[in-house]
Amino acid sequence: MRTVEPIRWTPEGVVLLDQRRLPGEVIYLTYTDYRDLAQAIKDMVIRGAPAIGVAAAMGVALGVQRSHAKSLEELRLEFATICETLACTRPTAVDLFWAIARFRRRFDELIEEVAPATATGGVSDSAARLDHIRTSLVDEALNLHQERRDADERIGRFGAELLPKSGRVMTQCNAGALATGGIGTALGVIRMAIEGGYRIEVIVPETRPYLQGARLTAWELHQDHIPLTLITDNMVGHFLKTGGVSAVVVGADRIAGNGDTANKIGTYGIAVLARENKVPFYVATPISTLDLSIASGEQIPIEERSQEEVTHLAGVRISPDVRAAHPAFDVTPARFITAIITERGIARAPFEQSLAALAGTGGHA
Ligand code: MRU
Repeated sequence: MRTVEPIRWTPEGVVLLDQRRLPGEVIYLTYTDYRDLAQAIKDMVIRGAPAIGVAAAMGVALGVQRSHAKSLEELRLEFATICETLACTRPTAVDLFWAIARFRRRFDELIEEVAPATATGGVSDSAARLDHIRTSLVDEALNLHQERRDADERIGRFGAELLPKSGRVMTQCNAGALATGGIGTALGVIRMAIEGGYRIEVIVPETRPYLQGARLTAWELHQDHIPLTLITDNMVGHFLKTGGVSAVVVGADRIAGNGDTANKIGTYGIAVLARENKVPFYVATPISTLDLSIASGEQIPIEERSQEEVTHLAGVRISPDVRAAHPAFDVTPARFITAIITERGIARAPFEQSLAALAGTGGHA
């Protein structure tokens, strides 16, 4: 299934579709320095938990590929700085830390592989050893990206089974191709259903203050000719009550061991209103978004973004000069979640058991 590509590894560097400019302009930026790529994650050129993980992976690979280190020791020091720089970009989406942890493990493995420079095995001269690490980390980033694509397709297939053959499905924010680098998680479920012949219309809340719904999800669905209706956030209750919505499907930024789910601000309200109106509420997510090291959602760090994103709209002030708050995410308690759809299957309450069983060693333990 072809969709828009938010991130691509090229010989020239890492190419990102600048999501800040959508839907008005489709502009691709090429990053040749990992520090600029880290800044791009902070500035939301690329966003969405799984895509942030892919960007971090490519950022580490880019930093190592372009490093001027002349010895393994120099490379080791530089690698640590690269990982720390990328880890300081956004705090809530756990895929970022998952990807960096994976690269730290891979780097240690590669150091082990090249360290015994003997004539019988291993890589003998220093430049060849460094080259081996560089190319292997690029391969690791490409593999991780491909795994995201495969995971989305599997999530889509599992999730489609839960949707009605025809009807309206509500989402929140953008959990689509733009947010994962594959076909999307929540939107992947919808895409797979439509490919299977379902007749679905997507209800898209605008998702203030950053407008991922209006700017990104509406654009992405429109590009792919998927029927949608855009609504403002304060219409959610009305639509869940009277709008014939059969299901809500959202993505996730971090899921605690008990199933509590951090996702874009506004998700919690939608989940409560869905329960009130007996509409099933599904979270579609890769295993990498599970954080089994924390027991409940109370331990999830919530990113606080600039007040200006609330007081201004497209650069124009819409409020007097007053204090504003901007938590970028909220936590939906597990009791409002009907099921969590992953690439390894569907988890239902009690989530402590079902998520641990699905995660195996794949989530954050
Ligand atoms: O601030 P953003 O745009 O990075 O937030 C994105 C979301 O909250 C998504 O719903 C989530 O990352 C899941 S994306 C598959």
